[in-house]
This record gives sequence, structure tokens and C-alpha cells, in this order.
Amino acid sequence: MTKRIFSGVQPTGNLHLGNYLGAIRNWVQMQHDYEAIFCIVDLHAITVPQDPEALRAATREVTAAYIACGIDPEKNTIFNQSMVSVHAELGWILGCYTPLGWLNRMTQFKEKMQLRKADAEDQLKKIRHELKQYKKGKGRLEELLHFVEIFVEAGIEDSEKTTQAKLGLYSYPVLMAADILGYKATHVPVGEDQKQHLELARDIAGAFNRRYGVELFPQPEPVIQGAATRVMSLRDGTKKMSKSDESDYSRINLTDDADTIAAKIRKAKSDMEPGLSFDVEKRPEAANLINIYSALSGDKRDDIVSRFATSGFSEFKKSLADVAVAHLEPITGEMRRLQADKGYIDAVLKRGAERANDVAQGVLKEVKDVVGFLRV
Ligand code: TYM
Repeated sequence: MTKRIFSGVQPTGNLHLGNYLGAIRNWVQMQHDYEAIFCIVDLHAITVPQDPEALRAATREVTAAYIACGIDPEKNTIFNQSMVSVHAELGWILGCYTPLGWLNRMTQFKEKMQLRKADAEDQLKKIRHELKQYKKGKGRLEELLHFVEIFVEAGIEDSEKTTQAKLGLYSYPVLMAADILGYKATHVPVGEDQKQHLELARDIAGAFNRRYGVELFPQPEPVIQGAATRVMSLRDGTKKMSKSDESDYSRINLTDDADTIAAKIRKAKSDMEPGLSFDVEKRPEAANLINIYSALSGDKRDDIVSRFATSGFSEFKKSLADVAVAHLEPITGEMRRLQADKGYIDAVLKRGAERANDVAQGVLKEVKDVVGFLRV
């Protein structure tokens, strides 16, 4: 069977170091050994509100980033998802084989809705504690009511968020399964945060195959590799680096210039421990910066730690800034150059969409025949 990669990035602005180290850089390495399809997933992007002009611009920007990072547009297929209607069609079909229970387990959906389950559990604990005190005659009724009020208000807010959230956000992972299965992709290189979505894609492939007793869809293998499969925020080592973080200082964007990169690393959160050591639990910020250093320089984590074991954070950060700028500056420059040439970018996307469509239409035909849709 053809070894085929499928992967994608959402065109939602602020392409960052996490996207690069967790995904795109691995694609660059893998493109030589696989047939590869790289998508700019604009259908996924509209699961949260997008400005139309910004969406178009971001689609071209991500395309430029793929090429600037080293994806060869001649050898590989690069296209934006909405140009190939198979994604939406197959997404619908696969949705009919996906139990709601599977979707309810997806954590990213809950995170995006920002449900405050953890807060609620915390409040409930406080209420129980106050109630106990009150029964013992030690607590005050006002105190108890205060916590009950917060709890109820948070519940109302969450329930409003749930009813306002869009169906697309919920069925997002089914569309992602369609992206992958629509090309019978065998390998999917992604960052660690996409692992659960990939497991779902495997489950859906299995459910469809079993339902009809066929081997139509292969089980796609997640490829999660490298020194930084989960790059964390520069402001909080326990939170993922993300496009949607309000603070621009939490991430290094692929469009940042050298001074900005250096300033962001200088200001990155650190800790008060002397010297450098790697301990994800106790020193999450240091661990994140060491991982980034290792991923960008190619140096082993242990070597980096022993080199800076006795020096302060500022010396380590200075060296990290140098490494980051040396690695990212050529990419940023090339991105800028490519973005100025819209005609070229659009031609790459057009050709990519044609190639992608050829493959995906073939798979969709097979699916339609298996399901029993009449094709006349
Ligand atoms: P998206 O756009 O959020 O992220 C694109 C890729 O970047 C990786 N990534 C990270 N890796 C390490 N550290 C981080 N902080 C970090 N943030 C993001 C993601 O894991 C991803 O590989 N649902 C996907 C897009 C998608 C897709 C697909 C991917 C749609 N269909 C089919 C693969 C196959 C997403 O939102 O990625």
C-alpha cells in the first residue's frame, strides 16, 4: 500500500513555534519518504468566528509558511480544504457512523468552549465545607449563600456557552477523520495535542469497515516525534503554546523578527532555582525552554543542561535567543518574500487542489458504492 501522509494547520493567524516544531518541521523531514498531502484546513477554522478577509490572508500565509519551512510544492500536494468538497461530503457520511459518546470524550472541544468544570468542582467543595461548618454552628449563612451564588452563576454561564457553541465545533473531529480517511492516509504527523483526535479517526475507520465488512480505510498511524511534541507557553510552562492565547508574549510567531524573538525569550517566565536542570514537574518553564533549545539546535537535552548547569537563566536565555533567531530568521524572510507573490501562492494552491481532488474523489466513489448510494 502507498505510504501516504496527510496533515494540516488551521489558517487562524499567528502560526507559532509549536506548530513548527510539533508538526511542520517533521513534515519537512518526512516528505522524502512518503507521498504527502499538506492541507490548510479552512473548514476547520470557521468552527470559531473568523473575519473573511483575515481568513483569506491567513490561508495564503500558512501556505507561504509551509513552503518557507521547506515543504517542496512540486513534489507534494499543498491545498486549502474548502477547495475539495470531498472533505465536507465524507465528513457527513462518517458522522453517521460516529457515536455521540465518542465525541463527548474529546477534550479539545470542552477546552474551546472553556467550560469551567474544574472551577465548579472547586466551588462545590467550598459549599460542602461551609455547610458542614454551618451545621456545626460554626459557619455563617451569608458565607454559605455566597458560594452557592457563585456556583449557580457559573453553571448558568456554562450552560449558555453550551447552547451557544456551534455544531461544527462539536463535529470538528469527524471532519478531521474525513480529511485523513478521504486520502486513505497511512501516517499523520502532528503535535501531541492532536493524539485524541487521531484515535477517534482510527475508531471511525474501524467502525465503518466493520459495518460493511470491508477494508476500505487503513488505520492511520499518528506520528508524534521530535524534542518538542508539546511546546508550552512562554508565560506559563503548564499551558500549551497556542494561537489563541491573549498574550503575544506567550508564543514565538513565525512572523516575528529577530528583536521580537529575543525580547520574548528574555521575558519568558523562569524560576528562582539556581542553575539549569530538567524537571517537568518542578520546573516546567525551564523544561520547556530546554526542549525548545534542543529541538532548534539539535543538541541533546543532557548536553544543554550540563553546559548551563551552573549559569543563570539570563545566560541560557541569551544563547537560546541566538539559536532561535539563527533557525527562524531565514524562514521568516522567505515567508515574507513568498507572501509578496500572491500569484505564485495561488498557483500552488490551485494545482494542489486539483491533485488532492483526484485522489479524494476516487476514495469517495468507493465509499458511496459501499454505502449503497446510487451513482448513475
Ligand atoms: P492546529 O492548527 O491547532 O495545529 C497545527 C499543528 O501544530 C501542532 N501544534 C503543536 N505542537 C506542539 N506544541 C504546540 N504547542 C502545538 N500547537 C499546535 C498540532 O498538533 C498540529 O499538528 N485539528 C488540527 C488540524 C487538522 C489536521 C487534520 C491535522 C485538521 N485536519 C488532519 C492532521 C490531520 C488542528 O487544529 O491543528
